[in-house]
Amino acid sequence: MKIKIAILPGDGIGPEVVKQAIKVIKTIEKKYGHNIELLEGIVGGEAIDKYGEPLPDETWKLCEESDAILLGAVGGPKWDNLPGEKRPEKALLKLRGGFNLFANIRPIKVFEKLSFSSTIKPEVLKGVDFVIVRELTGGLYFGKPKEIRVENGEEIAIDTMTYKASEIRRIAHVAFKMAQKRNKKVTSVDKANILECSRLWRKVVDEVSKEYKDVNLEHMYVDNCAMQIVRNPKQFDVILTENTFGDILSDEAAVITGSIGMLPSASLGEGTKGLYEPIHGTAPDIAGKNIANPLATILSVAMMFRYSFDLEKEAKDIENAVDKVIDMGYFTQDLFTGNPYAKQLVGTEEMGDLVCKVIEGGA
Ligand code: IPM
Ligand code: MG
Repeated sequence: MKIKIAILPGDGIGPEVVKQAIKVIKTIEKKYGHNIELLEGIVGGEAIDKYGEPLPDETWKLCEESDAILLGAVGGPKWDNLPGEKRPEKALLKLRGGFNLFANIRPIKVFEKLSFSSTIKPEVLKGVDFVIVRELTGGLYFGKPKEIRVENGEEIAIDTMTYKASEIRRIAHVAFKMAQKRNKKVTSVDKANILECSRLWRKVVDEVSKEYKDVNLEHMYVDNCAMQIVRNPKQFDVILTENTFGDILSDEAAVITGSIGMLPSASLGEGTKGLYEPIHGTAPDIAGKNIANPLATILSVAMMFRYSFDLEKEAKDIENAVDKVIDMGYFTQDLFTGNPYAKQLVGTEEMGDLVCKVIEGGA
């Protein structure tokens, strides 16, 4: 298969973890005889420094030409005081919004041996396996007006939460379809006791659910859901929620996997082009030290093979390799401390090499 992938390493630990993901892509290319072209582009803070904007036209074009986009992370303290429109994070929003990638898929899976790396009791985590389906191009992130202005001599900030029924409907379909292939349960998360957006959300999700008689639907308030995720995460199969709630709940759910360094994500639209990124961000405090965990990015590549290229075997191969490396007790430092299964502390590069070696069949 002939494939073009846009590679946007970004800031902080982005370049180091993406480098490992590239090794994995090349290993898969060789093993399965694909023809994969990698087009590297500049994004985020690095792009602001060089071109004065977080997503230069050239990078956009490269993404347009590509079948899928792999992104490391964007942002950092250096750019924290820029106005909203000029911040590195804006690049992400432009990519998500510009390519209409409204469905953000964030799988939360427990690797049994990593449950000891979590601050939650291992018995609470055993067998947890759910997916957060986060709406990604609506709500507070995109609603207008969005500004700080002066009224009566004082500054006032406004963010606007809006949702059209059609936006809710299309993401609901994604969640129900996903549940049909899993354990047939959707938990729709909202704040319908307070927010109009949530009341519409609930109504539309109820309507959509009628088309999926085999899937059980429950509604849950977001505050309760935040508690249930750490109290009894086994109850979830597919969590369906809006943009901001999904952002917050997915970081919380990262505790379940032992480290935010384990969580991949896929952002999808109507077509097959997708944006794949780890959910962890730039981690500037550990950048450039070869200690960051590259597995979230590597697992994002697996999702890319699955969702953008429909290459399930390749996706599974990558996921199995990650399983095996963890099973052998090779952990990066985010997972190492206090875990009785940790045998060998490895750096970013070593972890990337190990995964490739297993894929090649050599470990
Ligand atoms: C995420 C991140 C982004 C978001 C930031 C970097 C804009 O936190 O993907 O979860 O809030 O969506
Ligand atoms: Mg986030």
